[in-house]
Amino acid sequence: MKVLVIGGGAREHALCRSLSLDPDVSALYCAPGNAGIAEVAELRPVDALDGAAVAALATGLDADLVVVGPEAPLVAGVGDAVRAAGIPVFGPSAQAAQLEGSKAFAKDVMAAAGVPTARSYVCTTAEEVDEALDAFGAPYVVKDDGLAAGKGVVVTEDRAAARAHALACDRVVIEEYLDGPEVSLFAITDGVTVLPLQPAQDFKRALDGDEGPNTGGMGAYSPLPWADPKLVDEVMALVLQPTVDELRRRGTPFSGLLYAGLAITSRGTRVIEFNARFGDPETQVVLARLRTPLASVLLNAARGTLDAEPPLSWRDEAAVTVVIASHNYPETPRTGDPIEGLAEVAALDAPDAYVLHAGTRREGDAVVSAGGRVLSVTATGSDLAQAREKAYKAVSRIGLDGSQHRTDIAAKAAEGR
Ligand code: AMP
Ligand code: GLY
Repeated sequence: MKVLVIGGGAREHALCRSLSLDPDVSALYCAPGNAGIAEVAELRPVDALDGAAVAALATGLDADLVVVGPEAPLVAGVGDAVRAAGIPVFGPSAQAAQLEGSKAFAKDVMAAAGVPTARSYVCTTAEEVDEALDAFGAPYVVKDDGLAAGKGVVVTEDRAAARAHALACDRVVIEEYLDGPEVSLFAITDGVTVLPLQPAQDFKRALDGDEGPNTGGMGAYSPLPWADPKLVDEVMALVLQPTVDELRRRGTPFSGLLYAGLAITSRGTRVIEFNARFGDPETQVVLARLRTPLASVLLNAARGTLDAEPPLSWRDEAAVTVVIASHNYPETPRTGDPIEGLAEVAALDAPDAYVLHAGTRREGDAVVSAGGRVLSVTATGSDLAQAREKAYKAVSRIGLDGSQHRTDIAAKAAEGR
């Protein structure tokens, strides 16, 4: 099978790494990719948001499957363009991707499907904003309706700051604050059959102790030793299957990866958000634990034959990933700094610890930073404590001037807290 992966972050590196280890995959391409992905896939330049260009590339490569990684191309209809060219796509249509592209649409689907989520109002005027803020009280949760690359959500005790963010958005969702730990649960679906993956936890804040600004994600781990063993079954029954059923009922079936961001509150599990693609950095740890070869699962989802797949098989090991980010991330990250130590990690720590590239590019013989999140250092071990130790040992071998990373990824969970 010839597979083309669209995107160029650590999530796509994790996908390409798994696909490159799959004996069913005879050729693997990634567009546009990055310096790390180039070691496991052939890179092709493309504007990932241009459906016609991606379809032409896939046709030219004679691809049997196209996997679209990030949300922006999905919302822009890249999946539809490739499907129209007759090539199976892992990733939803533009309409179904509205589950991520519009928070108001997601709320509407959840209400229709009876999926538990925070109570909310959709507001377009200052009067509506004031009413909604007063109805819920502090802490205030204010979400830009549209895609905002992780920067659209403000959670604050400060009413003036909440109001200012709301007024800066055209359309805004204001909702009830949900307490309790967050869990990311992914499911692969063809629009009918739903196959849940293993849950993971993401660390969204920039600094240790969940301090500092929100980011795209600074680390993740899986499994979650503290979670109820029935969590996956519960979320399947209450969230994933009803949502997939509701989108099919509307005539806009969702196929691809359905990502449920959940809060485990004292009053039960609630959906915080849906995404229409694999999460980053959770994918790095979830795929590290997946034993089932990936390609046929993704192809069956793309073709509508997921019911033919046997249940997924998982390794007993735990996985931890630590993101190394550029100087000044998430504000105005500095790029172009050389990255040292990559060969050393590859030589000493593989296959238990490895470096997945996010924002990197090759400059002559050097690999340099090219984005806010630069690397996602991933390790597996017999338990979280061991996976953590291996991941941080590998992190310590990497040199990147001015870089930052959290030192507490999976620390509480590894200690049984
Ligand atoms: P989102 O982009 O919807 O994932 O929101 C980003 C982050 O904001 C989430 O991971 C949560 O930490 C936080 N958040 C979003 N919605 C809520 C809510 N209703 N209550 C508490 N925190 C929230
Ligand atoms: N890890 C959060 C996200 O992928 O949206």
